[in-house]
Amino acid sequence: MSQTLVHTEGESNTSSARKKWLEKTSGEKSNPLLKRDAAVFLHQSLSSPCVSTIAKAEGIWIEDLDGRRHMDFHGNSVHHIGWGHPKLIEAIKSQLDDLPFAPRRFTNEPAVELAEKLAGIAPGNLGKTLFTTGGSDANEVALKIARAATGRFKTVSFWDAYHGAGFGAASVGGEATFRSHIAGPLLPGAEHVAPFACYRCPYNHAGPETCGLACANMVDYVLGREGDVAAVIAEPMRAVPYVPPVGFWKAVREACNRHGALLIMDEIPTGLGKTGKMFAFEHDDIIPDIVTIGKALGGGVLPIAACIARTELDVCGDFAIGHYTHEKNPVTARAALTTIEIIEEEGLVARSEELGTYAMSQLQDRLDDLAIVGDIRGRGLMFGVEIVLDRIDKTPGNDLAEKIYYACLSAGLSFKISQGSVLTLSPPLTISRTDLDRALDIVVNAIREVA
Ligand SMILES: Cc1ncc(COP(=O)(O)O)c(C=O)c1O
Repeated sequence: MSQTLVHTEGESNTSSARKKWLEKTSGEKSNPLLKRDAAVFLHQSLSSPCVSTIAKAEGIWIEDLDGRRHMDFHGNSVHHIGWGHPKLIEAIKSQLDDLPFAPRRFTNEPAVELAEKLAGIAPGNLGKTLFTTGGSDANEVALKIARAATGRFKTVSFWDAYHGAGFGAASVGGEATFRSHIAGPLLPGAEHVAPFACYRCPYNHAGPETCGLACANMVDYVLGREGDVAAVIAEPMRAVPYVPPVGFWKAVREACNRHGALLIMDEIPTGLGKTGKMFAFEHDDIIPDIVTIGKALGGGVLPIAACIARTELDVCGDFAIGHYTHEKNPVTARAALTTIEIIEEEGLVARSEELGTYAMSQLQDRLDDLAIVGDIRGRGLMFGVEIVLDRIDKTPGNDLAEKIYYACLSAGLSFKISQGSVLTLSPPLTISRTDLDRALDIVVNAIREVA
């Protein structure tokens, strides 16, 4: 099992459901390793100490040291092609034999091929790339480009968003856990606005299509009032999951153009097909100035992320914006190239769209009569079920969600709870229809039992 298995945002470490589950699942082999882990790792929220171990990861399955198996509907958003895809493992092994590393300033075939490939799959003239090892760094490269290109330093981003753990990324992020305990100031000029969240929006009486887009107007207003913002940085669809209202991104794109700000889309969890399009912003018919991708880019095996910018934004040639040791690592580049190949060859983008639509309609049909189900929403294979105390006020049902969560875990399904009450379901795009049905049965049964 992955360490994230029983880490849910907003969940108390001492909840009785968690205690019960841990008692039930304590394992002969897992426990000693958990103790050693807690002794040597720096403790931090949402990560260490761990509560589970992992011994195997294959396809959609993860297994702990004591042999407990779960379908992994979280996978840290890296497992688009499933765990340990044989073609990927083979390609990495072969690359290790051919060329295992490239010192900086030495270019190599896989790195160039990958940059060319990304320019090919990204729309418009998103054609120039830098690689980093993680998504946080890719976002910081994007912020540096925006500063250099505009001569401005301010940013506008969303409260509740996550863009990475680095100081720059945490500054534009809006999650309390990543900001609140860092003594001293974050980046200056990092302005935040309320994120789109139609399901909780007071103006959304008539549905997203006719709401007047108060959330987009706020971005426009702040850009106008500040007058000197370098960039808006945001996730095109929030992984909570929250889908933007129709027209939101077009309005924000226009506002950015009007006020001279660049638009940076952080596609680190959503990119490469997760939402049923290669890039999630394609649902909204816009093209950003810069897009960052990561997570699934390394195929769930190796760490690699990328900042892809419009070719005209190649303006930092005289200084270093992403001077990373593994900038052109041939092995991580090979992993990314092969991952994209697999996504294309296996038609995983269309598959995500098809299976996601199917899963959401199944959940809607089978849970429609339950008062504790608020919304079922998402795009492609990034979808979620919001658990509420009542359907009218939509008061979050955190305790109910937790019970459902542990019932699912006991039945062999692992996922994450977002914002305390949203069962967030994000399986690999390679999942079979049979396994998806099996997982949906587990979720539906658990919700019905608790309801
Ligand atoms: C939207 C988003 N941006 C950035 C990041 C940071 O990526 P990394 O953990 O690779 O630094 C994440 C990771 O969860 C993310 O979800």
